[in-house]
Amino acid sequence: MISEKIVKALSQQIMEEEHASRIYLAMASWCDANAYPGAAKFLYSHTNEEREHAEKILKYINYRGGHARLLPLPEVDNDFKDVRDVFEKAMEHEIYITKCINDLYELAIAEKDYGTQVFLQWYIEEQEEEEDLFQSILDHYNNCKGKLALFDKFVSEKK
Ligand code: FEO
Repeated sequence: MISEKIVKALSQQIMEEEHASRIYLAMASWCDANAYPGAAKFLYSHTNEEREHAEKILKYINYRGGHARLLPLPEVDNDFKDVRDVFEKAMEHEIYITKCINDLYELAIAEKDYGTQVFLQWYIEEQEEEEDLFQSILDHYNNCKGKLALFDKFVSEKK
């Protein structure tokens, strides 16, 4: 049986993942509206990934005998300076999510919840991949020296 303290912390993370999903949806919409179809395609797809991350935690709470409840979502930004701003903000957000996951892991250790520690290991690896993914996009932006159509094509091929 999962403790109420862990349920509360994991429920907060469901909200964070849903919020990330909406952040990427707003970013996808901006890219779509500003003629970056490749970046929009990538971000629409990433929106779905974040929703899956949220659902996976929700199902885990219920599997462990808790009841996952949804929390209100914060507002999202809809406007960006340019496509670089989109991906810099995405990277910043992934770094924030990594911190959230690490804090959750520390709590699971403090609470001696070994099952939740094992569950969170998937998210720890996922965050390494996500940070690497967004860093590679930013690196490519810097390398393509203003050739934004090339940049957009590169991002469209990312998963
Ligand atoms: Fe679910 Fe991109 O972190």
